[in-house]
Amino acid sequence: MSTELIHVTINGQAYEVAKGARLIDVCRDKGFDIPSFCYYSDLALQASCRMCLVRIEKMPKLQTSCTITCTDGMAVTTQSEEIEKAQRAMTEFLLANHPLDCPVCDRGGECELQEMTFDWGGLEERFTEKKNYYAERYLSPMVANDPQRCILCKRCTRVCDEWMGEDAIEAGGRGAHTVIGTYMGWLDCSQCGNCIEVCPTGTLLDGTYRHQTRPWELAQTISTCNFCSDGCQMSLGSRGGELKRVVARDRYVNGINGEFLCIKGRFGHPFVNHEDRIRTPLIRYKKGGKLIPATWDEAIRYVAERLDAIANASGRNAVGVVGSPRLTNEALYVLHKFATELVGTDNYTTTDAFSLKSFFDNLGSPLATHHDIRHAKTIVVIGGEPEELQPFTGKQIRQAVRNGGAKLVIVNSVRIRLGEQASQFVHVRPGSEEAFILALANSANDSLAAHKAGIDAAEIATVRQLIGDTSGDIVFMFGGELGADAQAVVGQLGSILAKEGARFLLHPLPLFNNSVGAHDLGMMDSSTTPEQILDSAGVDIRTLYVAGGFLPQHFEGREDALSKLDFLVVQELFQNETTKYADVVLPAASYAEIDGTFTNNDGFVQRVRQSIAPIHQSKADWMITAQLANELGLDFGFEMSASTVFREIGEKVAAYVGLRYPLLKDETKPVQAKHNVSASDVATQLDSLRSRVEQLPNEGEKLHGRTKVGHELFKIGTLTDKVPQFHLLASGNPRPDTTRVSPLYQITVDASLKEGAVAGD
Ligand code: SF4
Ligand code: SF4
Ligand code: SF4
Ligand code: FES
Repeated sequence: MSTELIHVTINGQAYEVAKGARLIDVCRDKGFDIPSFCYYSDLALQASCRMCLVRIEKMPKLQTSCTITCTDGMAVTTQSEEIEKAQRAMTEFLLANHPLDCPVCDRGGECELQEMTFDWGGLEERFTEKKNYYAERYLSPMVANDPQRCILCKRCTRVCDEWMGEDAIEAGGRGAHTVIGTYMGWLDCSQCGNCIEVCPTGTLLDGTYRHQTRPWELAQTISTCNFCSDGCQMSLGSRGGELKRVVARDRYVNGINGEFLCIKGRFGHPFVNHEDRIRTPLIRYKKGGKLIPATWDEAIRYVAERLDAIANASGRNAVGVVGSPRLTNEALYVLHKFATELVGTDNYTTTDAFSLKSFFDNLGSPLATHHDIRHAKTIVVIGGEPEELQPFTGKQIRQAVRNGGAKLVIVNSVRIRLGEQASQFVHVRPGSEEAFILALANSANDSLAAHKAGIDAAEIATVRQLIGDTSGDIVFMFGGELGADAQAVVGQLGSILAKEGARFLLHPLPLFNNSVGAHDLGMMDSSTTPEQILDSAGVDIRTLYVAGGFLPQHFEGREDALSKLDFLVVQELFQNETTKYADVVLPAASYAEIDGTFTNNDGFVQRVRQSIAPIHQSKADWMITAQLANELGLDFGFEMSASTVFREIGEKVAAYVGLRYPLLKDETKPVQAKHNVSASDVATQLDSLRSRVEQLPNEGEKLHGRTKVGHELFKIGTLTDKVPQFHLLASGNPRPDTTRVSPLYQITVDASLKEGAVAGD
């Protein structure tokens, strides 16, 4: 939008506004209420509901404010008898075919149509004709549908198309019989539920939650998603100590993601109250024996005695300390303090899929926020698969291209779905993404890189040219395909590629909600990998203290590593591969039961807030570690309060200096950690990267085919294993014989649809 200011008058008051601003947005921004159904900020215009009417001087009829851009001297009236009469008539018209039975509608109490009818509707219904009737049904395991409540605003079809790039839901039928539906009567899509979220009526409903509570019975707690690194803000709705549903509805929360959530954030929460949660501390007094329930005091004392004895007998490095990138910053900070200040071991790490240490050590450009991505002019994505692994980033990329005209370059060994939006897709051989980085850093490497990646050198030159020609923001993203050397080079690419005046921004694509925090809090400092820890188990490392589990990939080729330890302590939510050989299991609380912070891939430090009391006897991870430290003779002094831990983080961790919980309280104004951004000499890493690239094979097959929607999102892991709907999706989302009852009935008749856990998330 232009920075030029023009003058408009609204209801007699003069304002200066940006030239080209949309009238409905300006009126709302200035505090004048304008009703609307079909208008949705940052989506293509629909202009069908005619609720947003205003009178504009010198124009003959009432105008829809969602379709008008402000011009200089415009004089607007938003409220008058004439306008109100027209709006009341529109509401009455919308209700012509809509059932008037809000008390039995699942959206009752938080329905925009219901609210609008109270505010702008007539007092009596004059239509006496028979209303259309359609039976309620399911469109997928996640999406329920009551077609007769639809007002055809088409927000759902637009978010599906523009946010998700899926076009899975469409309007069918004609005239008064138009209804929203799917192509084959069943939704074969990523099941994000965003169509449910933006639906202003009770037409599209959360099929996993409906009829469980009324919205006013829920306590709403604003928190941060605990799945991927995008850090979506969400409202946790709880009742009676149970987490009932998760929404991003902006009446409750208005964070970086607006009303967007993906399937995991929205529907992945039932693990919180799952019956399989570990209930009490458990001790296995004898190897191969049973885990026996114990009190917290017994368990902590037992662990402290054993750790102490092993450290005394075998040295401090015989004790390994491992944390999960799912833990809060507070938990990771206390764990790091435990490892370095109390135990003094060099063997500590985070169970992440890859480390970002080298990237952050050589960060030469600022981190791109999701807002930056949406408004970027050029986006380059090397490796990764944002639409499956960081879906909010995927949505921002898609909208930057579709609604903002950004140029997108995808460099990947697989044809990922985002490739359809790309102006250039560079199809490299598997494992050769680093060659592309080498060439971008120095064009003298173009032919070597092209040869190894199986591409034309001109493809590299085109990308370099595009970046060099960009005025405005360039966002450069990368996934786990890049090793430490390539990451260091990426950190400094901005000064090599971008022309003066352009802003070069970096956006890493780590997999977990707190991968960035795990780096920031020092749990990656030792450069020891989870695989190295497991390889040393029973050799140099005699005991491990693990908060959260290892990933299945860490165990590959070392399945029985944990069995070789003298002593293994695991704090977890569920029994899993890591607890299998544990001598002590301590019940940890989930993200819904604790206070804390996560740091997302924007570098935003966002609050995690307690929604329900800890389940059974579970405790926050940081509390368990602090209690153990206390038993070992070191009082960390956190006084049972997460904010005290964070206060110390705000004093001691460079990128977080000055941060306090009160500064993080407003999710509409997220606070970015101050990662050090500076020029660094990466000549050594560049040399080493070149050697790595030279060693890549000269030939090899490329991967063919296109990735399938949900191939990562629907994977069953420790958490999604607890949601039966995910099992149906992982089994191919079969269309049930009847859509009138919950699709879960299929698991009752065919137990094979409930697969076992296959991959850790
Ligand atoms: S759940 Fe998501 S992908 Fe599926 S139809 Fe709705 S908006 Fe589209
Ligand atoms: S289903 Fe909901 S969002 Fe979609 S057109 Fe109907 S009322 Fe609008
Ligand atoms: S995009 Fe990531 S952070 Fe957002 S809801 Fe999905 S998993 Fe959670
Ligand atoms: S909001 Fe303007 S026509 Fe619907």
